[in-house]
Amino acid sequence: MTLLVKNIKELLQVRETSVSFLSGKAMGELPAIKNAFLAVENGIISDYGIMRDCPDETGFDTVLDASGKLVLPTWCDSHTHLVFAGNREGEFVDRIHGLTYEEIAKKGGGILNSAKTLQNTSEEDLYEQSKTRLKAVMAMGTGAIEIKSGYGLSLEAELKMLRVIKRLKEAFPISVKATFLGAHAVPKNTDKAAYVNHIIQDMIPRIAEAKLADYIDVFCETGYFSVADTKAILKVGKSYNLQAKIHVNQFTSIGGVAAGVENQALSVDHLELLTASDVQALKNSMTMPVALPGCSYFLGIPYTPARTIIDAGLPLALATDYNPGSAPSGNMNFVVSTACVKMQMTPEEAINAATINGAYAMGLENELGSITKGKLANFSITEPINSYSFLPYSFGENHIESVYIKGQNIG
Ligand code: NIG
Ligand code: FE
Repeated sequence: MTLLVKNIKELLQVRETSVSFLSGKAMGELPAIKNAFLAVENGIISDYGIMRDCPDETGFDTVLDASGKLVLPTWCDSHTHLVFAGNREGEFVDRIHGLTYEEIAKKGGGILNSAKTLQNTSEEDLYEQSKTRLKAVMAMGTGAIEIKSGYGLSLEAELKMLRVIKRLKEAFPISVKATFLGAHAVPKNTDKAAYVNHIIQDMIPRIAEAKLADYIDVFCETGYFSVADTKAILKVGKSYNLQAKIHVNQFTSIGGVAAGVENQALSVDHLELLTASDVQALKNSMTMPVALPGCSYFLGIPYTPARTIIDAGLPLALATDYNPGSAPSGNMNFVVSTACVKMQMTPEEAINAATINGAYAMGLENELGSITKGKLANFSITEPINSYSFLPYSFGENHIESVYIKGQNIG
């Protein structure tokens, strides 16, 4: 199967030699080719360049004319909870009436509310609900996604979630990474120490043995899991080859960032509250900070200080956090726009954060995240638009016209 996209107004994120991720000033550069072509062979990017060098189109199975349109790599959404049962719009209305996210959680709402619903939902139903969401985010330009468990909170229900993620991985052409988040909340009427032991002694070995997870996560936060709990869980996770990707600094800074870095976490996510020592801990590490502006928007909490992070020379990735409680949207276009509007990221920084840096935060930087020969041909074609800055500028809109995964049009 061969495909040629010709007359591309601008081909974005073109990198002759692939980079692992971009940090600091380098995030401000988005290499692009105007009036370009892109060639695909068997799902892989085989060539690209200026139209003057475009190969003869008779040699291709399919030829697309992208006049007036931009082409860019699909979004790499490195932090989601896309597999969940039901919704929590009741809690949303409670918050409008003045309750805080923390108060709702204390009353047995929040994560425990979703866990109860999920435990009472059949695996088939959970799969169907999740499938609908995955199709929707793919149509908006997402071409790689990480999905967490963590609404099961019992061995049986966590396995159910992870099996659903595995089924999605097998049924859909996009790259799906699975993360075990047993330590998302302490189940009702359960002693925290006993639950942490259960995670360590029973859940991790069973999940690792069934090869149901790529990564391990902990919600390291006041009132959830302490730094000591986090370190204990990550250590055992590591012994089962599960690298860490953790929730830290959403509401308080308690040392979770340093704990993540010390344990070679691939990413530390949220960071709405970031201290100078957290920034220091991230320097010279291989850990990717990940911001989730959809969560800040929805909960009305501070935005991750992107300028502090990038101006300190660090990298930053952007993800949706798609979940029923704090970010019920999997729209990466909204995330990219909100990062520019609310976090003072430039369009170049935001696009880099949502493509190559997101790919790194899922261990996919060699396959995805840039237009590079040999990488998977996962790309989006926009509607006819003036420039790439129009994408974040026109917030709440989606200008992705069509999406290609491994060279195949998925809508
Ligand atoms: O990333 N902070 C922890 N977990 C999710 C939200 C969970 C929920 O409210 O259902 C998050 O924001
Ligand atoms: Fe999350």
